[in-house]
Formats: sequence, structure tokens, C-alpha cells
Amino acid sequence: MILVNKIKDNVFNFRVINYKELDFHGPIFRNDSGSSYNAYLILDDEITLIDTVGEEYSQVFLGELKTILGGKSIDNIIINHVEPDHSSAFLEVFKHYNNAKCYCSERGEKPLRNMFFSDVNYTTVKNNDEISTGNYTFLFKTTPFVHWPDNMVTYLKEEKMLFSNDCFGNLITGSSLYDSEYELALLIQASKDYYANIMMPCGKFVLKALEEIKMLDIDLICPSHGIVWKENVKIIMEKYRSWGSYEYIKNKVVIIYDSIWGNSEIITDDLAVKLIGLGFDVTVYKAGTHNHSKIMSDVLDARVVLVGTANFNGTMLPTIAEVLERLYALKPKNKIGGVFGAYGWSKAHIERVRNRLCDSGIDVVDVDISSNYTPDISTIKMTDELAFKIKECVEL
Ligand code: FEO
Repeated sequence: MILVNKIKDNVFNFRVINYKELDFHGPIFRNDSGSSYNAYLILDDEITLIDTVGEEYSQVFLGELKTILGGKSIDNIIINHVEPDHSSAFLEVFKHYNNAKCYCSERGEKPLRNMFFSDVNYTTVKNNDEISTGNYTFLFKTTPFVHWPDNMVTYLKEEKMLFSNDCFGNLITGSSLYDSEYELALLIQASKDYYANIMMPCGKFVLKALEEIKMLDIDLICPSHGIVWKENVKIIMEKYRSWGSYEYIKNKVVIIYDSIWGNSEIITDDLAVKLIGLGFDVTVYKAGTHNHSKIMSDVLDARVVLVGTANFNGTMLPTIAEVLERLYALKPKNKIGGVFGAYGWSKAHIERVRNRLCDSGIDVVDVDISSNYTPDISTIKMTDELAFKIKECVEL
């Protein structure tokens, strides 16, 4: 569905709530309540559309646009980001408003030509370029790799509104548009889930983007996903600074494991209890059971990531392999890692997990736990050793 909200006298929001889209960006981010998207229309002497919506909503979107435009045309289309969740309805919109001037970043032009119309006369903008639409001034800030190379944000000076596209987004699907209508803890968790799964590798670019926009006087942050930030603008910006800096909670441990006959699970429990006893805050996830996107969200600010798996013909279990590939893709920083698992006649899986964690940039300690079949007294000693090694490294 699309909800239309009037944000200011001349500024409208189109809020797509797709409660069926649990897999956001394909299988990259699983969100059990669905996904949400925003586009914005600004009325002035010239009329400006900022971003569009997904292609499946293009006809409904066009209908809502027509209702507000009342026979007028769109003069400018600002494409802050070329990724199809924002730009794929551009095809249909431009067919109906093909006199509109289309603005994108320099790095956005090529993918737009590739994905959409190759013969549109796109107008590329640089950092700090401005356009006037009469009473309003739009300032462009390029924000490469927040989230793709082409990303930019647009600031509407006279209304102090920042159209931030992916930055500061979340997938909240509630019908209310403003942050003030939700519990702050819920907003921060949803934004963290989004950041971890979409932005985690972009930390240094996120910090650069924050530098770029810090001199702007912002009343409203209007992202292209989730809610509009009104009461908590400073809070979400500070969260982005913290996440972009890869800050962590010193005693936070995430254990991710999977097991065939329960032996790796016994080690997991023993390790968790020992670490809690040493002062750690431990969360345990079973890879075959829990949502991997939620695991990534918890990894974002953890200090320690421990991975356990049974041996599966010389390697790790497939559920663990998927988690490790996610870690590789999301490139967590400032993490200490550890490996454990049960085996029967080969413990090659321990080394494979260690190598994959190292490839992801995790600093893996030189102690691991490998239990031949059922854990016994020697396993308990190894668990003690790993737990104390982790404590030593973290310096609790
Ligand atoms: Fe919301 Fe990078 O797409």
C-alpha cells in the first residue's frame, strides 16, 4: 500500500509499506515485518520529485502523484540513488513526465543509462551544487558508498529538510510517519538492524557523509526507508557516528553455532556459562534456527564473536558457512574471534572456520576447542582455556 502524508504545506511524502516483502534486497536482509520506502514531492514554481518507489507500485504511485499535481507536470526528478528499490518506478514516471529534468550524481549516470532510459539527458551534479525551483533551494551532497558509489543526499534549505535516501533508514512498517509516534528503543533497534545488514562495510564513508552534513541546520531527516526523523535527529546521527566508527560494547559476546548430534551444542552452553561467569554479556544463536540478519545486527557492536560447528565431511555445517559468508561481506571491525566444535574422525572444519573468520577481518585467538564425539573432561579444560583467553584479550 501507499500512504500519502503532507509534511509541510508544499512537501508530500509517499510511504510504501510492503508488509509481504520480508526479504529486503533479495536475501540480504530478512525483516519479519516487511519493508518500507519513501518518495517525496515538493511543490514550488517548479515541481520536484525526490526518488521514486519500486516498480510494482508505479501505477498506484502515478495515481497518487496525479491527485496532488491536479493537472500540473513534474519539472525535476532528483534520483538520489540508482538502486531499483528507489529508482525502478522512474521508468513509468518519466514516461508520463518526460519533460522533467533528471538529476543524479556523476556516478549515478552510467547505471541509470544501463538500467533505465539510455537516451535521457541526465543532469549530473557535484558535491555542493544547488538548484533553485523558485522559492526553494536544493543543495546536493554526494555521499558515495552510503550505500552504493552513486548515493547522494539532497537538502531543502528553506524547510531545513534532509532527503537522505538510504542513510538513516530503517524498515519500520507502522502506519505512522514520524519518529515521535514510536518508542525510541524500537526505532534504534530497527535502524541498527538496517545499518548492520546494509551499511556495516561502509563505516568510513558514513563518517565522511556525517562530516559533509554536519554544518546543515536539519529539522527533519526524510530517508527513503522507514520513518521521518523529527524529535531524534541528533540521536540517530550520533548512532551513525558510533556504528560508522565500529564502536563496541566491551563485554558483549555473540556465539553462533550449529550442531548435528548435540555435541557442539554442549560446548556452546558450557562456553556461554563460563563467559557469563567471567563478566561477559553473552547472546547465543543457532545458525539453523535464528534469523541471520538479526545475528549481524548483534555482531555490529559485539567485541567477541565465537563460532562453533560440527564437522561435516571435512568442513563446517552449511548454516554456519552462510553466516561466515555474511560476515565476510559485511566486514565487521574491532572483533576478537574464537572457534570450537565437535568431530568424529576429522577436525579440518576448525581450521576452515578460523580461516573464514580471519578473512572477514576478525582477530581470532590462538586457542580453540575441538571435541572428539561427546565432550569430556579434556573438552571442559579447553573451554576454560578459551574463556580465559577471551577475557585476557578483552581486558575486562
Ligand atoms: Fe535503498 Fe541502496 O537502496
